Amino acid sequence: TEPLRIALAGLGTVGAGVIRLIQTNGELVTRRAGRPIIITAVSARDRAKDRKVDLAPYEWQDDMTAMAHRDDVDVVVELVGGSDGPALTLARAAIASGKALVTANKAMIAHHGLELAGMAEQGGVALKFEAAVAGGIPVVKGLREGAAANAIERLYGILNGTCNYILSTMEDTGADFADVLKEAQAMGFAEADPTFDIDGIDAGHKLAIMASLAFGTVLDFQNVEATGIRRILAADIEQAESLGYVIRLLGMASVEPGGSDGPARLFQRVHPYLVPRDHPLAHVDGATNAVVAEGDFSGRLLFQGAGAGDGPTASAVVADLIDIARGDTGAPFSIPVDLLDAVQPAQTGHRIGK
Ligand code: NDP
Ligand code: HSE
Repeated sequence: TEPLRIALAGLGTVGAGVIRLIQTNGELVTRRAGRPIIITAVSARDRAKDRKVDLAPYEWQDDMTAMAHRDDVDVVVELVGGSDGPALTLARAAIASGKALVTANKAMIAHHGLELAGMAEQGGVALKFEAAVAGGIPVVKGLREGAAANAIERLYGILNGTCNYILSTMEDTGADFADVLKEAQAMGFAEADPTFDIDGIDAGHKLAIMASLAFGTVLDFQNVEATGIRRILAADIEQAESLGYVIRLLGMASVEPGGSDGPARLFQRVHPYLVPRDHPLAHVDGATNAVVAEGDFSGRLLFQGAGAGDGPTASAVVADLIDIARGDTGAPFSIPVDLLDAVQPAQTGHRIGK
């Protein structure tokens, strides 16, 4: 059987994790995929950097966009990051030249997902981004496929590992915000620019992607209302605790159906919330993520697991590669992009105030 040949752009936390996974679980991956998944070329900024993985078997390519045009590449895996810039240039070039694209880049998907999905649908190639939402948790698959037969009424959860690590560690140890953020960065959880984490933007990217998958609506990151955790002090956590709560950064989305009083509205908000200590989300600690989706027939679904880090994220990337090796080229979102419903953005707080 023909191998699936991939080019890997970005060899940081996630890229190195993907190499480690393929080198460690190669046989298992081949069995599950039905054919070998082999790395043809790799690329990053600094060729000399020690990445603690063996890159010797792979060809180094300085110009990552050139990977999109190689005849010996079937899939481009983009693990560079950034909503625009080299990641987007590579993604567009890859799909335009008929390659499948796998990415962990939620910023790029939140901003340009519809354009890229439209290109992929037209070209009949796969675009997959399981790793972009909640690290190792198969929540994209869960919403797109597992919950496909449901009208989902509401979606909420802990969507940023760095913030959850900071809040739960401050709660347990009384440590200082800045010190715990440094720990999260050292463990590879944080974004290259950690303000995306602590200002709720990263959670907003994920929320917008999930809302589109869950509700079948046009991806609408611009209308996510996001507040992060940078102003939360140890004293706030203590005060919450004395009242029987913990503080968690949650993302929430719902669609208010249209009717005589107006069109359907999409509500998307990221905010620190007080969570009662006996609620399941209060026990989600560290870089764990948890997503709750309420389906009309499935009832409440809870997806929980490691939301960041090299291993969990690599696991999601390689799962996408296995799907592609098996021949899955389905629509990237739950339905083709031109069939997604356009709904009005809701005013912040509209739903919660009820
Ligand atoms: P890192 O910063 O660790 O790695 C980024 C990689 O991209 C590095 O190898 C870097 O090269 C390379 N790179 C960056 N800019 C350029 C450029 N201009 N030209 C060429 N190469 C470039 O990021 P992560 O691995 O943490 O994240 C990668 C993607 O995965 C991001 O989109 C992130 O949001 C997403 N993600 C990350 C998770 C995590 O837990 N870390 C979880 C889920 C998703 P060099 O090493 O030479 O500097
Ligand atoms: N910076 C992100 C987080 C990585 O902390 O959740 C996973 O998407």
